[in-house]
Amino acid sequence: MSTRVYSEWSPGRSGFPESDRIEQIRFLLRFAILAPSGHNAQPWRFEIDRQRHTLHIKLDCSRLLRVSDPTDRVSYMCLGTSARNFVRAAESYGLAPTLTIVEDDGEYSVRVELEDGPGDADGTEIDWIDAISRRVSNRHTYSKEAISSAQQERLTDFAIPGVELKVFTSAGDKATIAELTARSSKKLINAKEFRRELSGYVHNNWTRAKTGMPASNQGIPDLISLAAPFAVKHARVGTWLSRRDKKQLTDAPMIVALVTNGESPHEWIRSGMAHEELFLRATGEGLALDTFAAATEDEEARKELAARLGLDGYPQILVRVGRPKKENSAVSHSPRLSVEDVLE
Ligand SMILES: Cc1cc2nc3c(=O)[nH]c(=O)nc-3n(C[C@H](O)[C@H](O)[C@H](O)COP(=O)(O)O)c2cc1C
Repeated sequence: MSTRVYSEWSPGRSGFPESDRIEQIRFLLRFAILAPSGHNAQPWRFEIDRQRHTLHIKLDCSRLLRVSDPTDRVSYMCLGTSARNFVRAAESYGLAPTLTIVEDDGEYSVRVELEDGPGDADGTEIDWIDAISRRVSNRHTYSKEAISSAQQERLTDFAIPGVELKVFTSAGDKATIAELTARSSKKLINAKEFRRELSGYVHNNWTRAKTGMPASNQGIPDLISLAAPFAVKHARVGTWLSRRDKKQLTDAPMIVALVTNGESPHEWIRSGMAHEELFLRATGEGLALDTFAAATEDEEARKELAARLGLDGYPQILVRVGRPKKENSAVSHSPRLSVEDVLE
């Protein structure tokens, strides 16, 4: 396994620059780049405005998913996940970040201003730096054991304006989500163009690529992983994948849908922020999380999902939360581009 592409996962806490704002931003970016993204494409780039001492988080056009994400909805969500990591890291070092979503000629980005401040005053006991560095998508089956209402409350007790967190724990609701996800993931992955794009992001377990996913993330052993990119491109693996999605969602003790009133980059970025906040909280609580985008990527399934679950708005993404049957430590991180790779 190539360790070089995983080295970003040990950012280290010490050495935070005392007063130089630009250096502080650079330091904090080491946490922003550990955020999750669709296909691990990491579609972000960062610009530091040296005059105003602000950070801009923007889309990188070379890492968008043209086939699976033609409107850039998922990529915009990823600006939100990295922005949230940045915010939580900044607060951990006693700074007060202010985020603004700005539009310039049809392109949206996140502007972050930093001030000295009280830091994280929201009363949680989560070690955010630890959670950011340990967070990993866990695609193993989760135990059916229920998540206590106190723990559910701690997971979801936060507000990102415009994003509603809908929690589903009943067998009926989970069956609906499982059915629609399985149907849409089968449809997506049986489409040749989708598979061709995905195959560029699925690697064998020794990969030196800094984007995409080693097959080990899907629980695929080393030797079989050699055939994974080929299998994704050429085999109709939709039936296998949709069955797995269905079982995992049916068994999960808790599924959360992130729902917005509107449908624009504003809502997409904010949904990404909420996704990451939930993910970090789950990690802090010793729980695992896994993301399911298929039913929200297929417009028909998305409408049916909203109607059958009684959701008033646009479901942006679904996640399952639970206790993995295999420990998180058995799940490996995915590679990352370094700060130097994505900072302009
Ligand atoms: C907006 C978004 C959508 C995602 N959609 C899916 C998905 O449909 N299926 C899946 O298995 N993982 C999905 N993921 C998880 C990514 O594949 C995962 O974050 C990426 O491979 C990096 O791995 P890590 O989360 O362990 O760092 C999604 C993540 C994000 C942020």
